[in-house]
Formats: sequence, structure tokens, C-alpha cells
Amino acid sequence: MEVLPTLVYINMFLCTLLSYWLWKDEKMKHKQRAKLPPGTMGWPYIGETLQMYSQDPNVFFAAKQQRYGDIFKTNLLGCPCVMLASPEAVRFVLVTHSHLFKPTYPKSKEKMIGPSALFFHQGDYHARLRKLVQNSLSPETIRKLVPDIEAIAISALESLANQQVTKTFCQTKKFAFEVGILSIFGQLNIRYREELKENYCIVEKGYNSFPTNIPGTAYQKAMVARKRLDQILNEIISERKEKKLLENDLLAHLLNFKDEKGQTLTEIQIADNIIGILFAAQDTTASALTWIIKYLHDDQKLLEAVKVTIFLRF
Ligand code: HEM
Repeated sequence: MEVLPTLVYINMFLCTLLSYWLWKDEKMKHKQRAKLPPGTMGWPYIGETLQMYSQDPNVFFAAKQQRYGDIFKTNLLGCPCVMLASPEAVRFVLVTHSHLFKPTYPKSKEKMIGPSALFFHQGDYHARLRKLVQNSLSPETIRKLVPDIEAIAISALESLANQQVTKTFCQTKKFAFEVGILSIFGQLNIRYREELKENYCIVEKGYNSFPTNIPGTAYQKAMVARKRLDQILNEIISERKEKKLLENDLLAHLLNFKDEKGQTLTEIQIADNIIGILFAAQDTTASALTWIIKYLHDDQKLLEAVKVTIFLRF
């Protein structure tokens, strides 16, 4: 007779605990939801991917920014995400609170650049490759490249001589690509340079397109070009190994790499990291150069001061 009330009490206690736990969980979820910025998440999994690709992605983002402000949520390419369009918000992610974030990319983009590229990784592999890249681009190495970089700049300026209108960003992109190739391969023969450029441009065009393997689409063409880039890189690597050239460029660092167990990098790892570096270096450098040119053009006093500094240094 006494067992029943005890069971009832235990049951009541468990129910109260469960309700409290569910209430707390719901409150937490609500709190978390409440912290999300404005915006819409679209359909489950595909989110707003189709909306973005059914128009110019720039128009899609501009419309969202106008409607929701500089920080809004959405769901693209299978990733729930928060889009940031203000320097303060970007500073929060990259500088003051970087420990709360880890870099991840949509799978379709990772596949195109190369899954072994360092920025898709964390831990030992990432740390070793990051150090390798930093070492291969030391100020000393770059100093030795200055005459070659200058030659690329002069040749780029000469090619503009007969043009009526020039798109600065297009030109700085070409310049950044050439400098990237120089830093990665040193003096590379023109056939390889042209083949790399041609296929890299196709990859770039497909990078932000809808990821589908349907033949003829920008994404599928880009994936084919990416495979071709692997073949070209394999040829360059084989030639370098055959000639036993003693270079100090990024490729040499990648080829000579050994971890503490004496493990070297595979050709796939080398290729993915080369394409990854080219990708990381090109648009970023080109945008920075474009802004520098704009500000120097707009402020003649600043331009004169820069000219004097450069003159004094050399
Ligand atoms: C003005 C030019 C550049 C800007 C504004 C820029 C910006 C950035 C930003 C914001 C990141 C992400 C940092 C993070 O997630 O913590 C990054 C990463 C990276 N950038 Fe740049 N970058 C520039 C030039 C370059 C160049 C020339 C290279 C060539 C080596 C390069 C290689 C990398 C690499 C390898 C990473 C990944 C680092 C890691 O995962 O640890 N970047 N860059």
C-alpha cells in the first residue's frame, strides 16, 4: 500500500524535472533564436540557394542588405549562414572574437579549390602548411622578386597604353595572378603560364555558379578545368623533379616538405594548396590595389608624399 504513493511522488518529481528541463531548453532555444539577426531561411536544406541563382547574386545580396541591414541571416548551398556587410561586424569575426569562429566553406566550393588546401583544415596539417606558406613568402624572398614584379608591372602598364577606358580591378587581377605565378613557380615557361591562366579563369567563372554536374553549366566546366589544372601541375612538378632544380619558391617548399615522421606531401595536396594560394591571393590583392589606386588618384597630396617616400627608399 505504501509503494503506490512513493511511485506517484517519484513520477511527479520526474515529470516536474522533465517539464522544467523542457521549459529551460525551450527558453534557451528561444534565447538563441532571439539572438539571430533578421532575414529569411527559405526551404529546408536548399534554403534560398535557388532564389540567389535565379538572379544576379549581387542583386540578391544588395536587396537583402537594403531590406535587413548590414547583418542578416539566410541559408545558401546547404549552409545556414549570417551575412556580414559592415567593417565592424567583420572586425568582430576576424579580430576581436576570432576564437569563437572556425573557417568552413560550402562543400561545392571546397571540391573546386581542392579539399587539401590549408584553409579547409584545422590542427597540425593546417599549422604546418601555414608556416610553410609564411616561410616561402618571407620579406627576404619577396625582396629578391622585386625586379621581376616591377617587370610585370611595367609590362601591364605598357599594355594599357592604347586603351581608351581601363577597368582597374580587371587589370590589378591580371597583375596579381602573374605575381602569384611568379611567387609559386619562379620563372615558369610561357606555355605553362598560359595554360594555367586559361584553366584558372574557367574555374573562377564557375566558382560562384550553381553547383551542378549537368554538362555545359559553368560549375561543370569549372570542375573539368580544375582537373586540367591538376594535370598541368603534375607536369610542372615532374619536370622540376627531373631537372633537380634548386629553387626557393613556394613549389620548392611544398616539394621539400616533411613532417616530423618524415612524411612528404602528395601531389594532390601540393596541387590543392597551389590553387588555394592563387585563389586566396588574387582577388584580395587586386581589391586592395584598386582601392590604393583610387585613393592616390583622389588625393594628389598623398600621391606626392608616396612618390617622395618611394624615391627616398630607392
Ligand atoms: C590585401 C590582400 C589580402 C587580404 C585582404 C587577405 C585577407 C585574408 C583573410 C580575411 C583571411 C581569413 C583569415 C582567417 O580566416 O582568419 C585570409 C586567409 C588566408 N590568406 Fe589572405 N589576404 C590577402 C592576401 C593574401 C595573399 C597575397 C596570400 C598568398 C599567400 C594569402 C593567403 C592566405 C591564406 C593561405 C589564408 C588562410 C590562412 C589560414 O587558414 O590560416 N592572402 N586572407
